[in-house]
Amino acid sequence: MSEEPLHTICYISTLLEEISEQDAKRLASKFSAMNTRVGITGCMGIRRLEVMQVLEGPRDVVQGLFQRIQVDSRHVGITLMVSTDVSRRRFAEWGMIELPYGAVVEVADQVRGIHGR
Ligand SMILES: Cc1cc2nc3c(=O)[nH]c(=O)nc-3n(C[C@H](O)[C@H](O)[C@H](O)COP(=O)(O)O)c2cc1C
Repeated sequence: MSEEPLHTICYISTLLEEISEQDAKRLASKFSAMNTRVGITGCMGIRRLEVMQVLEGPRDVVQGLFQRIQVDSRHVGITLMVSTDVSRRRFAEWGMIELPYGAVVEVADQVRGIHGR
């Protein structure tokens, strides 16, 4: 595992096309496998076109992934809500778990409440 500080990024974005619940789960499980290989964990919620995602892991890895996500043509309006070093993972067991959108908002609020903007 990297020596980098543990970091969390939360962002929102807008999908260009609505996807089914089943496709959202499929995407999350594909991302989960990719994330586990590089030490990233987190959660994502999709409500119609709206996405909210929380990424946590070594700072360099999280920032590198976020850069790729920002140029992904499947979504637009990528808006960073929180980017902060943290003391622990909230989703240590999950490479990327798909949760109800509201639950992801609560996680982001918690991280933001603890660490400021
Ligand atoms: C909403 C959204 C969330 C994404 N989340 C992840 C993720 O958690 N992990 C990941 O590896 N790729 C994620 N991706 C895909 C990346 O944008 C990118 O396609 C992938 O990392 C492969 O990058 P590469 O083709 O440059 O190697 C996400 C894409 C979108 C649109």
